[in-house]
Amino acid sequence: MSIDKAQSRVTELAAQITHHTKLYYQERKSEISDYEFDQLLEELIKLEIKHPELKHPDSPSQRVGGTITKNFENVTHRTPMLSLGNTYSQEDLEEFDVRVSKGLEGQEYEYICELKFDGVAISLTYENGILKQAATRGDGTRGDNITNNAKTIRTIPLNVNDKTISSIFEVRGEVFMPKNIFEALNKEKIDIGEEPYANARNTASGSLKMQDSGIVSTRKLDCFLYSLTTDNKNVDSHEKSLATLSEMGFNISPTFKRCNNIKEVLAYINHWEEKRHELPLETDGIVIKVNSMSQQEQLGFTAKSPRWAISYKYKSESATTLLNDITYQVGRTGAITPVAELTPVQLAGTTVKRASLHNANEIERLDLRVGDTVFVEKGGEIIPKVTGVDQSMRSKSSDPTLYITDCPECNTPLIRNEGEAVHYCPNINGCPPQIKGRIEHFIQRKAMDIDSLGERTIDQLFETGLVTSPADLYDLTTDQVLSLESFKELSTSNLIKGIENSKNTPFESILFGLGIRFVGKTVAEKLALHFHNWDQLALATYDQLIEVPEIGTRIAESLIAFLSKEENIEQINRLKSHGLKFEIEASANQPESDILQGKSFVVSGVFEEYGRDELKDIIKKNGGKVVSSISGKLDYLLAGDKMGPSKRDKAEKLKVSIISESDFNQMIK
Ligand code: IVH
Repeated sequence: MSIDKAQSRVTELAAQITHHTKLYYQERKSEISDYEFDQLLEELIKLEIKHPELKHPDSPSQRVGGTITKNFENVTHRTPMLSLGNTYSQEDLEEFDVRVSKGLEGQEYEYICELKFDGVAISLTYENGILKQAATRGDGTRGDNITNNAKTIRTIPLNVNDKTISSIFEVRGEVFMPKNIFEALNKEKIDIGEEPYANARNTASGSLKMQDSGIVSTRKLDCFLYSLTTDNKNVDSHEKSLATLSEMGFNISPTFKRCNNIKEVLAYINHWEEKRHELPLETDGIVIKVNSMSQQEQLGFTAKSPRWAISYKYKSESATTLLNDITYQVGRTGAITPVAELTPVQLAGTTVKRASLHNANEIERLDLRVGDTVFVEKGGEIIPKVTGVDQSMRSKSSDPTLYITDCPECNTPLIRNEGEAVHYCPNINGCPPQIKGRIEHFIQRKAMDIDSLGERTIDQLFETGLVTSPADLYDLTTDQVLSLESFKELSTSNLIKGIENSKNTPFESILFGLGIRFVGKTVAEKLALHFHNWDQLALATYDQLIEVPEIGTRIAESLIAFLSKEENIEQINRLKSHGLKFEIEASANQPESDILQGKSFVVSGVFEEYGRDELKDIIKKNGGKVVSSISGKLDYLLAGDKMGPSKRDKAEKLKVSIISESDFNQMIK
């Protein structure tokens, strides 16, 4: 393809992708399938790799991430990011209103009420329509430059086409993790035996500061904007700035309202007290802002916060109810979770009947006893929590809770590892919920994806003794399935077909499906890519395991423990003999691609993520050539830290592209 053709195709692809992204995120509509969308994006990424000069800083290819930032640069905000004063009562609000009224010396004024989004503040700077910088609040004066991570947030426009706004403008808002995404992420963590995240806010904050923007991209963060700083005099009210932002394509929560007085503000507060729980994100209060910009200016700021705005915090919701029982659940990994069985009570928009008590320490800390009246809270955390006991209501005859000593499912004495809070049932191969849990984990969508198998069928297969391990699934015959209650010919053939088809599942998904503790989907992908097949992985020593990027000591230990068990090896051998693929696909194997076909590289300096030899290997596996000296024919100088200045000078003189490790990562992604 000629450079001109490539250029027009890049422009066309970028426009199409931006169009579909906007349509999807702003109007929840799609004109093309996910697959077609991915194809467009892939074509664009490939063209940009071939012709790096065609890659714009606002290219939609940046949404998928791929850059690594070891240390975020510190940047100074153009104006400090202040905080808001808090109020907790009608009286506080009325006092605020009196202060505003006095400050405005009898002028008429109105408020805009908004919800207070419980996320992480962000500042976005656009220059000539292009997103130039995204920064965290930091200490209010200086924050971290997290531009690459922010670019993965699909609802943050990478460019805006608005001639009425100044050439440089700043937008501020709140990045958050939608509740459903947070819940799914936590489910995944629990599933692999990890502690769940405490709340969506911290998770969003942690995600924004991750080094690998590729992972940030998978976190599906979102962002509501609530302020625009521009020289445009037409934007003379907060309401107009919200409308302008919305027209420019920013994500504005439609929940704001203009209020003429504190009475209307109070009505807004009441309206959202319950309803806010239906929103896709956590909100802990509302923000009241004087609408007129000139009046905002007139009122000004104190050292810490504006005088023209204040927040009203909803009380963290709590209720009292009766603790009827403490039951115990056994998870796939054998972990025991005590659960409070409560008399149903309304809390923060839902009925709460049960709450996790986490472990024995928690029961002891709260001194919980069956029959107690307990406090239940739902603050920033979505999951309800028992926070205490109303001692005044305790019956004199109540006894302290004795934690169970045996497994409630199989009666095996429980164990508690040194330094761990959780009790485990060690009967891995004989405890029903552990066995069924492993099969459920194995067949789930992200693993073998056998959707013709559900929880009920697994129960039946287990009860009848037909399936007690994942490998048993592949021994099932049509007659055996037909003998199950409620299985007819069609459902039977669907089930058998589903199991048969799963034999094409890629290695990394099988690896995840095995349910090795701490090996989630991402870790499984990293391991598969590194070792290529099961046999190499099984041979790896502890030291070789922890050499793999992002594999820490905990995962390495867990893998070694899994590999040391005979029954696990036997399972793998049986799965292999059924034809499951225990190696990565040839296309994913070496050579990994021809993406660097015809391109020559000199690799020099010290790198953060890869060793020099590792980089050379990757270049070769992707069709590129590694040479030792810089000449006019060279395509790229891959430059790390501590590269000699003479090399850089020479490359610059000969107009050779000098690329960094993160540019290279983008190329091979
Ligand atoms: S306006 C001078 N509006 O609350 C600060 N802030 O305590 C003006 N926040 O750092 C901020 N929702 O992160 C504003 N609708 C909203 C908000 C909001 C959440 C956060 C923001 C800020 C903190 C102030």
